[in-house]
Amino acid sequence: MSALNKDMLSELFSAAFGQSPELVVQAPGRVNLIGEHTDYNGGFVLPAAISYATWIAASARADNELHVIAQDFDAQSVVIKLDQPMQHDQAATWSNYVRGVVQELQKKGYTLKGGNLLISGNVPAGAGLSSSASLEVAVVRALTELSGESIDPTQAALVGQAAENNFVGCNCGIMDQLISARGEESSALLIDCQDLSTRSVSIPRDWEILIVHSGVKRGLVESEYNQRRAQCETAAAFFGQKSLRGVSIEQLVAAEGKLDDLSFRRARHVLTENARTLLAAEALSSGDMETLARVMAESHESMRDDFNITTPAIDRLVEILQTAGAGSAGARMTGGGFGGCVVSIAPKSLIPKLMKAVDDFYEAETGCTPRLIPAKASKGAFAG
Ligand code: GLA
Repeated sequence: MSALNKDMLSELFSAAFGQSPELVVQAPGRVNLIGEHTDYNGGFVLPAAISYATWIAASARADNELHVIAQDFDAQSVVIKLDQPMQHDQAATWSNYVRGVVQELQKKGYTLKGGNLLISGNVPAGAGLSSSASLEVAVVRALTELSGESIDPTQAALVGQAAENNFVGCNCGIMDQLISARGEESSALLIDCQDLSTRSVSIPRDWEILIVHSGVKRGLVESEYNQRRAQCETAAAFFGQKSLRGVSIEQLVAAEGKLDDLSFRRARHVLTENARTLLAAEALSSGDMETLARVMAESHESMRDDFNITTPAIDRLVEILQTAGAGSAGARMTGGGFGGCVVSIAPKSLIPKLMKAVDDFYEAETGCTPRLIPAKASKGAFAG
């Protein structure tokens, strides 16, 4: 997680392309405070953009080609011809996110111009902090700016999501791209994924977010993720609905025993998580840590027992943080699951105690090496 700035990126760009960049864009990663696997069910999420981002320096070319360098992948470079159909690249797999975005922007009628692009970033990869979504949103911003087009942040997010769904092959929801595009400083965003409306919820000034990487590498993510999504759709179909947003908790409870157990538990997670997310947004805005800590704990249990997306080491990490916080700190796994990070939120004064508890117990008990990632709620993608 090296520090990055515009000058550093401009220098790298000049060394690679022999000219100065015309623009530099950045799009942040995110941490989700609560509302997991609810986005593709038309539900509620409460993420914040974080102070780690994907950066792109770019300048126009006279031809119809994109020359793209991924600084963090050994400065690997690819050439993408804009007037030919997009093909998957098996060697430079990172470039499939760029290709997917090109394809989706073209589908929407954008006439893209050629360009030189240099990409770098400091969002930890494979940690559940949305490095891919931040790359997609940064590419959307860079390509549209280069072509002299403007794009609304929600549209930019939808293009990024479509690239991932249609080209990369992960059936992700809209949360990650939307918060990367629309994030606000010092705030989380309550997003209704049914209509994509957002409400900014400011984080109390004396509270801080601490992300802890569990050291568990995320495995089998795509197949497990797509499977969870399919299971939720099966559960919704049982009620004659397209998404679980159309099903109430009462209806679900009444269906117990008729709906198969797996679908029942998947749906119970989603519906109770929606309710918890709304409660959490209220608790955050009124500074009610007791409620926030409680619903975050319940969210983790639900992900563990009903949605089955946590791992034993991550369960332990959450417990260590909760014990150290003694009701005054929220902690839960964040992101798609099967490894990655835990998010905690607590009054600033408690953060050193949480860090010490992780240092004292986690590695000794699980054999996994944690990484502390202090994060600030930050603004969404921008150029300049
Ligand atoms: C991944 C997906 C999101 C969301 C989360 C789980 O991050 O990209 O759309 O579904 O998992 O909440």
